[in-house]
Amino acid sequence: MQLLQDVSALRAWREAERASGRRVALVPTMGNLHPGHIALLDTARAHAETLIASIFVNPLQFGPNEDFDRYPRTLDDDLAALRKAGCQAVFAPDEATLYPHGRDITQVHVPELGDMLCGADRPGHFDGVTTVVSLLFNLVQPDAAVFGEKDYQQLQIIRRMVRDLHMPVAVHGHPIAREPDGLARSSRNQYLSPDERAVAPKLYATLRELAEALRAGGRDIPALETQGMERLRHACFSPVYLRILGPDLGPPQVPGELLIVVAARLGNTRLIDNLRLSV
Ligand code: PAF
Repeated sequence: MQLLQDVSALRAWREAERASGRRVALVPTMGNLHPGHIALLDTARAHAETLIASIFVNPLQFGPNEDFDRYPRTLDDDLAALRKAGCQAVFAPDEATLYPHGRDITQVHVPELGDMLCGADRPGHFDGVTTVVSLLFNLVQPDAAVFGEKDYQQLQIIRRMVRDLHMPVAVHGHPIAREPDGLARSSRNQYLSPDERAVAPKLYATLRELAEALRAGGRDIPALETQGMERLRHACFSPVYLRILGPDLGPPQVPGELLIVVAARLGNTRLIDNLRLSV
């Protein structure tokens, strides 16, 4: 596995891949890899002969009071896990390599989709994501890229960006990886205290209850959203939002495909999750 840390090494590697005719799939990450990240490589492998992961804790997508400084950085373990999983290359630049002109650079903004839900709660967050992902797409020039469906809104925003800007990258989602008790895997789970960790699976349990109510014929969507928020408050979460929407994050159509999306704080940790169903 090749470790690429500067732009010229990455470009040389990309040229060699192109010359060999192999398709390249990119799995962008912020490191601190867990089995959910490693599983993204399986989807990547289905779409390309060569896999490259990127590891970069992107300062542009963190708000001033968020966890940029304490976000876990575990490069050696990450490289070992990627090597074991058969990844052929890793792009792990430092900030001066990716942003040589500082953080105040050209931004990519996806209107509406980027301003709702997590975008309303974390102003500027998705601009940071779309900016770094476009930069990674420009540098790596992947044929395909894979993102986890836990960050469902992020995935939709990236699809919209790729569509709007005619980026020649096929974007694929990978299903949410869960702990045995249902909690969606996330690097942020390790911030949870033992007591909070015991409560955390109630986030997904609440989504499942709402899905059950919808499958059983419940159609009063605002009432179900309120019921879900109450349930979370009762379990000691501070819910940020809980919405029942269409899979494009637009208004729900019944009968049809629905998406229940949630963000909630448990102590100082912000958790997100979602569940898709059809009714
Ligand atoms: O999902 C993530 O880990 C990040 O938002 C991403 C896509 C790697 C961009 O920094």
